[in-house]
Amino acid sequence: MGKSVLVVGGGGREHALCRSLFESKSIDEVHVTPGNAGTMNYATNHSISASDISGLVDLSRNLRVDFVVVGPEAPLCESLADILLEHQIPCFGPQALHAELEGSKRFAKEAMHRANVPTADYLVLDSSTDLESALDSYSDNPWVIKRDVLAGGKGVVVTTDYQEAIEFIKDSIETDGHVLLESFLPGEEASMLVVMDASGFICLPPSQDHKRVWDGDKGLNTGGMGAYCPAPVVTETIHQKVLERIVEPMHESLSGMDVPYRGVLYVGLMIDEHGDPYVVEFNVRFGDPECQVTLPLIESDVGELLFSAATDSLQDYAISFHDKHSLTVVLASEGYPQSAIKGRVIQGAEISEDNDEAWVSHAGTGRDDSHQLISTGGRVLATTAIASSLREARARSYQRMQAISLQGSHHRKDIGHRAL
Ligand code: AMP
Ligand code: GLY
Repeated sequence: MGKSVLVVGGGGREHALCRSLFESKSIDEVHVTPGNAGTMNYATNHSISASDISGLVDLSRNLRVDFVVVGPEAPLCESLADILLEHQIPCFGPQALHAELEGSKRFAKEAMHRANVPTADYLVLDSSTDLESALDSYSDNPWVIKRDVLAGGKGVVVTTDYQEAIEFIKDSIETDGHVLLESFLPGEEASMLVVMDASGFICLPPSQDHKRVWDGDKGLNTGGMGAYCPAPVVTETIHQKVLERIVEPMHESLSGMDVPYRGVLYVGLMIDEHGDPYVVEFNVRFGDPECQVTLPLIESDVGELLFSAATDSLQDYAISFHDKHSLTVVLASEGYPQSAIKGRVIQGAEISEDNDEAWVSHAGTGRDDSHQLISTGGRVLATTAIASSLREARARSYQRMQAISLQGSHHRKDIGHRAL
């Protein structure tokens, strides 16, 4: 008999997880909470919020699921995995101790330092620091300033503007007590998702996100406006360096601890002009929209992959990938990322309009009283396509996007431009 699983979260990433789990032979039943209008096609939606830890634990117990897959980082930082394990429910997503790799930039830096993993050097600034001389010592390049708290993508400022830098530093010290100033790493970014447990790890194909809101990487930072996979910037040689310098030492260090890391480690990479990789950030979850482009390239059973990692049996899992390319374009509400206008009707995004090569992942969607699909968030949905070339995947993804209408919405027209 197949397994039952509960997915926690309600964005495009969770839609992609529900879809892949639904398609997994090892899985009979998919539940999601809170989900969105799209996850209903693959899973039973529940109404517990991803921030209600005791509600999530009760739901998992009542549903008697075989395991839980956690999409976002916040519940992991709030010990969801720890409490589930106390109730003998396996969890894909690390315990709070490891979730600090995302929750605290300083903790992540210290973990990298212990494992001798390449990353930008940094200073911790607090109210006793001479800020002027600290900024002076990093003034050859833009200043990179990072708050040491979960800030929902708004905790990092990269700027050459002295006034902006000093203000962000002062504000951060006032609210958080300290802040990190780190050296600027030039290069090209890529994301590597590494599924791991005590027994081993599996690197999924590298992908590339597009974080700025407008074409040509202009405008404000967002949660991610599109992605593609695999990212050719990570050549075979660079992949090998990432493995030897970053993934292997991190896995060795994490699996040697009392509590192993069970879940996916998102390694945000900067690759410099010499092809040397540095870690920009760790996340303790699948990226969004990286998840939407990566999961469809897994040929083997995704349910079994996630269950194996949740139960320390990854070494027995044989992964295989499709020899294909995928590309995702995100559709955002008018006003995103500053202030998104919500509650508008969306047309053309129903599952009946999808096909095997191009489909929609819902994120900020819901149903109004007359069951019409409406927008409920900043990032509303994403179109994903898979094909034997990146060019074709791009064409199919944009073709699927053309069929969708949402008043005032916007999406980038140049996803994949670095690779094409
Ligand atoms: P983070 O939340 O740490 O990933 O930072 C957000 C974004 O800021 C990254 O995706 C990079 O584009 C940029 N960034 C962060 N750290 C650095 C760095 N040391 N050098 C250059 N850019 C950086
Ligand atoms: N797409 C970047 C992230 O999920 O953090």
